[in-house]
Amino acid sequence: MSLLSQKHLLGIQDITTQDIQLIFETAKQFKEVINRPIKKVPSLRDITIANLFFENSTRTRISFELAEKRLSADVINFSAASSSTKKGETLIDTVNNILAMKVDMIVMRHPNPGAHQLLAKHIDAQIVNAGDGTHEHPTQALLDAFSMQEKLGDLRGKKVLICGDIKHSRVALSNIFCLQKLGAKVRVCGPPTLIPKFIENLGVEVSYDIKESLQWCDVANVLRIQLERQDIKYIPSLREYSMAFGLNKQLLDSLKKEIVIMHPGPMNRGVEIDSDVADSKHAIILQQVENGVAIRMAVLYLLAGKKE
Ligand code: CP
Repeated sequence: MSLLSQKHLLGIQDITTQDIQLIFETAKQFKEVINRPIKKVPSLRDITIANLFFENSTRTRISFELAEKRLSADVINFSAASSSTKKGETLIDTVNNILAMKVDMIVMRHPNPGAHQLLAKHIDAQIVNAGDGTHEHPTQALLDAFSMQEKLGDLRGKKVLICGDIKHSRVALSNIFCLQKLGAKVRVCGPPTLIPKFIENLGVEVSYDIKESLQWCDVANVLRIQLERQDIKYIPSLREYSMAFGLNKQLLDSLKKEIVIMHPGPMNRGVEIDSDVADSKHAIILQQVENGVAIRMAVLYLLAGKKE
């Protein structure tokens, strides 16, 4: 069985370009499987996976659960709201208690950046990061890059714009690492208050001009404003943000070319993206969601192969 270079998938920063290519090759095969009438293979029949979600999720949680079931794994779901973490138990104790019930792998979303790195030092099971605060969301970046590659071919030299709330976005950081490993040029664009200081040290371009940036890029990955992570106001209002940085049909029609539109979800229609853009033939937003299942099947399958 082919294996990744890492025991866990904690972030894109930790994995190699070869790992990413192997995940994509494996995902292509699983995409073919999930489009068959019988969408299931027995690959992880002897594996039990716990999905631990300490933060809200629609796409990622359902996508992981489906990926696990398509691979014939046994699945348990845990949500923080109804768990004993509310009674003061530590994360490490909670996870070690779950592992004591003969669980093999952990998929976890947690609001604290670095929670997965901490856990990896204290448990034996493989861990997949399903999003840690404002830090990384590796499977989202993998499915985004896989979807771009399906649409545009080899990403070397392709120009990718990530626009919106870069400061609070784990999707932005994981996308930057993934796209650069695949040879793409990356630019970020948004209000100055939502672009982290020194982000150009990561090798990305920075622009505050959305129209010029859209003209520059081959693909625009549009991010929402993460109001739940903002303790102070970074923008005057959503209405003003939408007027200055929102993608609408008039703005796209004014470009001298066609670009691919992506969004990781959840979308705030009428804020960062208008419906006539989100639902247009240029948008591949639902293809991203479809590819998420195949990418997560590939990640789980390859990590399970690493098990001693
Ligand atoms: N893209 C993403 O992570 O969506 P959810 O928060 O719904 O999982």
